[in-house]
Amino acid sequence: MCGIVGYIGKDNGIDLVLEGLKELEYRGYDSSGIAGLGKSQDPFVFKEVGRINNLENKLKKQEISSNLVIGHTRWATHGKPSKNNSHPHYNNSKNIFVVHNGIIENYLDIKKELIQKGYTFYSETDTEVIPNLIDYYFKETKDFKKAIKMALNDLRGTYALLISSSLLDNRLFLARLGSPLVAGFAKDYIIIASDQSVILKHTKKVTYLEDFDLAEVSNNKIKIENLKTLKTFDPKIEILESNLTEDSLNGFPDYMLKEIFDIPETIRLASRGRIDSKKRLVKLGGLDSVISQLEHIERIIIVACGTSYYAGMFGEYLIEELADIPVEVVLASEFKYKKEPISRSTCVIAVSQSGETADTIAALNKVKDFGVLKLGIVNVIGSTISRITDAGVYCHAGTEKAVASTKAFVSQIVILVLISLRLKNVSSKQTKEILKELENLPAKIEELLAKKEDIKKISQKYSKYKDFLFIGRGYDYPTALEGALKLKEVSYIHAEGYAAGEMKHGPIAMIDSNFPTVALIGDDSLYEKTLSNVEEIKARKGPVLVITSRVDKKIKDLVDDLFYIPRSSNYTESILTAVFLQLFAYYISKDLGLNVDRPRNLAKSVTVE
Ligand code: AGP
Repeated sequence: MCGIVGYIGKDNGIDLVLEGLKELEYRGYDSSGIAGLGKSQDPFVFKEVGRINNLENKLKKQEISSNLVIGHTRWATHGKPSKNNSHPHYNNSKNIFVVHNGIIENYLDIKKELIQKGYTFYSETDTEVIPNLIDYYFKETKDFKKAIKMALNDLRGTYALLISSSLLDNRLFLARLGSPLVAGFAKDYIIIASDQSVILKHTKKVTYLEDFDLAEVSNNKIKIENLKTLKTFDPKIEILESNLTEDSLNGFPDYMLKEIFDIPETIRLASRGRIDSKKRLVKLGGLDSVISQLEHIERIIIVACGTSYYAGMFGEYLIEELADIPVEVVLASEFKYKKEPISRSTCVIAVSQSGETADTIAALNKVKDFGVLKLGIVNVIGSTISRITDAGVYCHAGTEKAVASTKAFVSQIVILVLISLRLKNVSSKQTKEILKELENLPAKIEELLAKKEDIKKISQKYSKYKDFLFIGRGYDYPTALEGALKLKEVSYIHAEGYAAGEMKHGPIAMIDSNFPTVALIGDDSLYEKTLSNVEEIKARKGPVLVITSRVDKKIKDLVDDLFYIPRSSNYTESILTAVFLQLFAYYISKDLGLNVDRPRNLAKSVTVE
C-alpha cells in the first residue's frame, strides 16, 4: 500500500528519500512523487506513474537540491494511477504540500464546501482536500500550526501525513490517526517513514507517533502535541530492535521463491531459545508478563486477515486439541462490526505478518476497553499491533518482501504450536513428540525443496486450467484454503478451498474434466474419508492431484498426479503440504509469465479499510 518517506536536515535529501521509497516498493504501488523546497524556498514537486526509476530518471535531469523533502508511493484508492492523482498533493497556490496514507471518508463533503469557497481541484483523490483546507484556515488565522489543527479536526477517516510548505521556515509537520508513522534521529538529520525498514539503515533511535499526535520537526528536534489529550511533550525515544535478515535476492530470481527457501531457517528462528526438548518445555518470554492471566483464560478469539487468518484457523485446531480451550477465529474485518458478548476471561489474539493491517488493528481497538487480554503474533518488530497488545510472540521470520505471504505463514503456525503447548504446559509424551517433530521439520522441508524440479513439472501441467478446487480435512482444511488463496494471488486463476466433507453439499456440481482438484490427504484417521471424496471426483472425470505422505497403491492407480511429502506428526504435516502448495502457485505464476512478487491490484500490507 502507500508509503511515506520524509527528510529534514542539513544536506540534500532527495536521494535519501528516493532510496527510502525504493525500500517500500515491495509493499505495492502504482506511482510515486516527491516535493521539496529548493534555493530560496522555491517549492518543487515531481510525480511519475509506474516504477520509482521513472521518477528517479526525471529528477536526474533537474538541477535541484533540498534539505526538506517529502516522498510517497501511491497505491490507488481514489482515482486511477495518474500523475495528477499521485502524491504529494498541493493547494491552489502551490505552496502547501502533503503526502498521505489512509482514507479521508468525508472528502466529498469537504471538497464541495471548498469549491463553494472558490477552490479548484486537479485530482480525483481524497488527499487533495487537505492542503486546500489548511490553506483556507491559514488565510483565516495566519497561524500555520493552528490551521493544520483546524483542518485535522474536519477530517473523518485515517491518516499518516507529512505536511511541508514554503510558507514555513524549514519546518515539517507530521500527523497520525490510524496509519503508522515513525521518525528516526540520525546524526545530522531526521528521517520519517511509514515503515521502520526505511529508517533502520540510518539510525536505530526512533520515535513512533501515536494516534492524534501532531509533530513539528525542525533543527533536528521534534515536539509533539497530542490533539486528544492536548498535552505537548518531547518524543519518547526507542531503540529499534530489528529482525531484518539479509533481504537481497541471494541468487534467487524472485523474493517469493527466496522466501519459500528461507522456510527451514524461519522455523529454526521461530523456535530458537523457545524449546527445551530435554525438559519438554516451551518458553515464550513474550508471554511471561501475562502468564498468570493466561491461566484463567476460558475462551480465545483469534482475529486476522488473509493468510494470517488461515494460520489462525490452524491455531483453532491446535489450541482446542492441545490446550483444550475453546477458540473462535474471526476475520478482523467482520469482528470489528460484530456485536457479541465478550467476557473478561476471553483472550483476543491478533495474528499479522506486518502488524499494520488496518482491520486487525481496528479489531484490537474494539476490545481496548473490555478488560480482555490482548496478544499479538506479529512478524514486524515495533509494528502497531506489537505495541497495542498486552504481550505477544514475535515470529522472527525476517523481512517478507513478496506480496504473497509464505515464510511468515509457516512461522505463524510454528508460534501457534508453541503457544498451544505453553497454554497447557504439561510435560506429556505428546508435548515431547511435537517438539521433536518441530526440530525435525526444517530438514524435512529441505528434503521437499530439493524436489523443486518435480514440483515445477507438475505445476506446469496444471497451469492451463482456469478453475481449481483445493480440499482437505482437519489441519489440511486451512491449508487447502491457503493453497487456493496463494494460487489466486499470484496466478489470477479462480481457485476455491473447501473442507473435503463439504464436497457433496455443493461444490461437486462444478467438477468435470476441466476442473481439477488438489486433494490434501493427511496420513491420519481421516485418510480414508478424503480418499472417498477423491473417488467421487474421479467418477465425474475431474483431474486430481493428491498431496500425501502415505504410500498407497490404491491412490496411485486412481489419481492423475501424486506428490509425496515427508511424513511428519499430524500437527506439523500440513506445514509441508503448505510449502508444496506455495511452490505450486509460484511455478504456475512463472509459467504464465506473471510478476510473482508483485501481483496486480495487491499490496503487501493493507493499511486502509
Ligand atoms: C497473503 O499472501 C496476503 N497478501 C494477505 O492475505 C495477507 O496475509 C493479509 O493482508 C494479512 O496481512 P498481515 O498478516 O500483514 O496482517
